[in-house]
Amino acid sequence: EKGGYDTFMLKEIFEQPTTLRDCLRGRITGDCSRVTLSGVELNKDRFLQAERITLVACGTSWHAALIGKRLIQDFCQIPVEVEYASEFRYGNPVLNDRDIVIAISQSGETADTLAAIQLAKDKGAFVYGVCNVVGASIPRATDSGTYIHVGPEIGVASTKAFTGQVTVLTLLALAVGQLRGVIDSSTVQSVATALNAMPGTIEETLKCNDAVQKLSMFFTYAHNFIYLGRGYNYPTALEGALKLKEISYIHAEGYPAAEMKHGPIALIDQEMPSVIIAPSDSLYDKIISNVQQVKSRGGAVVAIVSKGNTAMKDIANFCIEIPDVPECLTPLVASIPLQLLAYYIAVNKGKNVDQPRNLAKSVTVE
Ligand code: M6R
Repeated sequence: EKGGYDTFMLKEIFEQPTTLRDCLRGRITGDCSRVTLSGVELNKDRFLQAERITLVACGTSWHAALIGKRLIQDFCQIPVEVEYASEFRYGNPVLNDRDIVIAISQSGETADTLAAIQLAKDKGAFVYGVCNVVGASIPRATDSGTYIHVGPEIGVASTKAFTGQVTVLTLLALAVGQLRGVIDSSTVQSVATALNAMPGTIEETLKCNDAVQKLSMFFTYAHNFIYLGRGYNYPTALEGALKLKEISYIHAEGYPAAEMKHGPIALIDQEMPSVIIAPSDSLYDKIISNVQQVKSRGGAVVAIVSKGNTAMKDIANFCIEIPDVPECLTPLVASIPLQLLAYYIAVNKGKNVDQPRNLAKSVTVE
């Protein structure tokens, strides 16, 4: 049942080309000029009239929500907020019938997310679900939604569900942007084409496996880690840090790279490695200078860079290359080496990666 892999988590990491193919199936037209999601098509008026979208979720799904915020802002020009479901439900949110609340949940059973949905519905908002488990409580409680269709996720640490969520949020942002007429057709064409090719791109990205396994050996005994990213990859940094915490029990924090000098850089010394997500995007030059600041304090640097990057090789201790994709899709490829890094460090430490201590796959109580 683990398909020849040692653990469910490794199987699920390597399954991502297939699960993303399933997730994308039938949602992008053959010529990559249009994205169609039935949940959006069937609720056109709600999406046309929306004045604000609030994304609610917990854990990894909340990280996907942060990426979704950026996507929806970029492609739909609608104000977006992201809330932890647990904070939203007790935060007395101000909502009306021009609000859309998007609840993201792999299991579809998370108690706080379910309660947030109920509250949003009571206040008149239209509630849309992005879930994996078909027929679970959250898809039943929402007004409409889109399944990510990545198949059962058994490993407690979410991997393929995260990339499925980010994929669906990209599709949703493109579909709603088209519906509202605020996205130009060349943007749709280029993002949809790259998204359509994503299963193959992830396959290519997974070739970093051996390099990541090798470099993981240098960090088996680390006690702390910092993950840095900017823009679309600030949430990727948070997600990379959460993966490491969950399964290897190493303390890890994710920060937007530019925040370092506002405090966290005080932590950097030889004992504090950093993982830097630095694809060749609009913020690349800025992140290079953030990396130099870390490096000059003696911390080891693992950099995730676009294929062909040479500048970072002179600064970072280890460079892992990822394929070049449009900026909005970089979290999908950059998260692959981070999943593998957390995985191999945990394996090096002899931890049970599929069932880490103190954690349950779905958190059905508060
Ligand atoms: O099933 P959900 O997506 O609602 O679960 C939310 C979180 O409990 C979940 O993402 C958790 O953070 C994972 N263990 C992360 O790997």
